[in-house]
Amino acid sequence: MLNLRYDFNNLMEERVGEHGVTDAELRALGPKLVAAASAVEKAPLGFRKLPHDPKLADEVAVLANEIQGRCDSFVVVGIGGSALGNIALHSALNHPEYNQLPRPPRRGPRLFVPDNIDPDRIAALLEVVDLENTVFNVVSKSGSTAEIISEFLVFRDALIKKLGTERHVERIVITTDPERGELREIVKRFGYASLPIPSDVGGRFSVLSAVGLLSAAVTGIDIHKLLKGAVEMDALCRKSKKLWENPALTGAALHYLMDKAKGKNIQVMMPYAHALRDVADWFCQLWAESLGKRVDRAGKTVHAGQTPGKALGVSDQHSVLQLYLEGPFDKVVTFLTVEEFRTTVPIPPAFPGFEAVKYLGGHTLNELIRAEQRATELALTQSGKPNCAIRLPRVDEETVGALLYLLEMQTAYAGELYNINAFDQPGVELGKNFTYGLMGRKGYDAKRREVEQASKANSQWVVNT
Ligand code: PA5
Repeated sequence: MLNLRYDFNNLMEERVGEHGVTDAELRALGPKLVAAASAVEKAPLGFRKLPHDPKLADEVAVLANEIQGRCDSFVVVGIGGSALGNIALHSALNHPEYNQLPRPPRRGPRLFVPDNIDPDRIAALLEVVDLENTVFNVVSKSGSTAEIISEFLVFRDALIKKLGTERHVERIVITTDPERGELREIVKRFGYASLPIPSDVGGRFSVLSAVGLLSAAVTGIDIHKLLKGAVEMDALCRKSKKLWENPALTGAALHYLMDKAKGKNIQVMMPYAHALRDVADWFCQLWAESLGKRVDRAGKTVHAGQTPGKALGVSDQHSVLQLYLEGPFDKVVTFLTVEEFRTTVPIPPAFPGFEAVKYLGGHTLNELIRAEQRATELALTQSGKPNCAIRLPRVDEETVGALLYLLEMQTAYAGELYNINAFDQPGVELGKNFTYGLMGRKGYDAKRREVEQASKANSQWVVNT
């Protein structure tokens, strides 16, 4: 039993008045929902096979075990879908100050996932890792993303300078498509260790493939339990195509109605557990890149999508919450809550004569964070601001595996409701192609010229100081 609850009460008209979904709206969506559920069931969705592949998990675990024994730092060289899942798993399931811990109790090498090519960031990373004791995991599905390849070249060069051409090979593991792409070709020709990303799994749906599993296993996360949680959620989704039985389908239906019928074109994910802050980041990419599409499946221009955002409880109560409570009625907030934290921190009683201080004594930080979440939830509801909550009993491998899979399935169902392809990213590809042109990649001259012309055309509307 996962004991994970997706609570939609505060999205309904009874709770938030005219901004909530009505029974009639849900009934009207019925046929579309049945069609969406059937389409997802019939579609050969690669990411759905991942939790059912314990052989891959075994292979990853063996490699991870071997890596743990021979390095002190592990660097994931990826971006977007090749990095955000790694970061989410790390912050959810490892010690909050993991890299600062001595080893043991640290369960593996220090982990770095720069997820960027900022030169200062990359140079600084090279300053703090010992190349003799570092393994770089280059992760790219396409095997050609400029950010990843350029970082690969920088790190490889540093390794060769330090260890020599022959020895540098053992410090690199490449995770890429099993057949296609130049990185796979490089693996074959130059003998780097490698893991596959199934051809039918896109970046943002790849967290439960070797993409996310290797860094998780290397840092001591139990990847078999992670997959077990996803398997349980998958079973729930397969079991029923009905609203209120299938949590991912219900989530997709309500968020779709929030956007299309209620004008809530923004969804903010707000975890009330520091460990889940990067799950919100991962979700932003998943929801945005999957649903943000110019055309629907019939080729009609629709500019679909609900803009995701993230906030963190309780920190953002003192930042953006004022806007959520009193600003425009354009958002829905999805809370992530946790019943049981890993630790309990008592608040010691003190200063009995001071009313603003003394009432806290004898409680715990656990009680306070839960109280603040309930308070925020009610304040939003009373202000007519729709919100829902995914309630986890605790943050562990199984619940996190289930949560990530739930959100992936919700996205797949939502893609059907919007009638768009949730699994491509033509906009991102366009940006990549302009970059290739600017950086002189063969075959992309026309793209370079387009960028140069556009820059000239816009050059007069600037304030120079
Ligand atoms: O989700 C996606 O498809 C993207 O974010 C990709 O993961 C990202 O662009 C990196 O692409 P690739 O792994 O193909 O190099």
